[in-house]
Amino acid sequence: MHKAAAEARIADESLAVPGFAGQVIAWQQQHGRHGLPWQGTSDPYRIWLSEIMLQQTQVAAVIPYYLRFLERFPTVRSLADAELAAVMGLWSGLGYYSRARNLHRCAQLVRDQHGGAFPASAATLATLPGIGRSTAAAIAAFAFAERAAILDGNVKRVFCRVFGIDGFPGEKAVENLLWARAQALLPERHIQAYTQGLMDLGATVCTRSRPKCDACPFRPSCVAHGSARVAQLPARKPSKPVPQRQTEMIIALCGDEVLLEQRGPSGIWGGLLSLPELPGVDLPGDASDAVASAAAGFGTVLRADPLDRLSHGFTHFTLHIRPWLVRVGERHVMAAEPSAFSWHRADSLAAAPLPAPVRKLLMRLLVEPRLAGMD
Ligand code: ADE
Repeated sequence: MHKAAAEARIADESLAVPGFAGQVIAWQQQHGRHGLPWQGTSDPYRIWLSEIMLQQTQVAAVIPYYLRFLERFPTVRSLADAELAAVMGLWSGLGYYSRARNLHRCAQLVRDQHGGAFPASAATLATLPGIGRSTAAAIAAFAFAERAAILDGNVKRVFCRVFGIDGFPGEKAVENLLWARAQALLPERHIQAYTQGLMDLGATVCTRSRPKCDACPFRPSCVAHGSARVAQLPARKPSKPVPQRQTEMIIALCGDEVLLEQRGPSGIWGGLLSLPELPGVDLPGDASDAVASAAAGFGTVLRADPLDRLSHGFTHFTLHIRPWLVRVGERHVMAAEPSAFSWHRADSLAAAPLPAPVRKLLMRLLVEPRLAGMD
């Protein structure tokens, strides 16, 4: 084990909670799950197989697969000697197929590098394919009674709520804190009942939605329950900042007509009539020259003035529109070939297929024309 990893397994006594493990153990014995097919054995092969199957899959779905697997491959050696296709076939329907490939590789490593016997420590188990830190701890606890801390998604949820741990558990700092807590809470004895109890509590009582707080042994001391934050903990993944885009939009007016562009079939405004744009141009300082020269393609530009900006939220980004009011004196005759650009009378716009922010901009101009100096 790396030095840092070894240090992480030394309990921080300030995070210990006297009585916590005892309560988990007592609760498991009375209210936890008993009689599951992988309980009541200390065969590491069977325990390993169950823990891999249970990684992303519920107990009820796992049971028939587990039983079929054991019938066909009763020992790690029989699994290691099997063809991968046979393993995949038996796994078919359980999902997350990298688990099956790792399972086969792991069985072969146990056969070839560990003399056919699973290594008897969490630290060594965690070096094998498909066995992460929490799964290694579960196998070592159940099979070898090692005092090793588990921390799967269910257990993280229990700890975040009971101890009021804020922050997204997928974040390294929060995860480290959770591991430190998990390590400090470990009991001296009855590690199997404690480990099973944490799993059972997370799976049957402290569930993600509609937890059964009335049935929870930690209800009196649970920080989330006491502060009415059960639904808020654990904290959700923080949403990424929404990308920001900017565009210059040209509102070219000639008399009582406005220039619009027919958009092609794709893109956010595909098929709609919109305003001509200078998109994504990071124009230095005053953009009026760039706007005026773009607008000059349509006619003689008398003046170009910036209007108030408008922001529009899409699902994946926010568009900041910088509208420019461009007065055109005399329009150029449009080229003979079909053009995406055409002039539209202001009083025809209400029925036109305009994107929402473009409609807003144009209505603002037309309904309050004095603001734009149109009267
Ligand atoms: N989830 C992960 N490991 C489990 C186990 N041993 N029993 C029940 N559910 C589990």
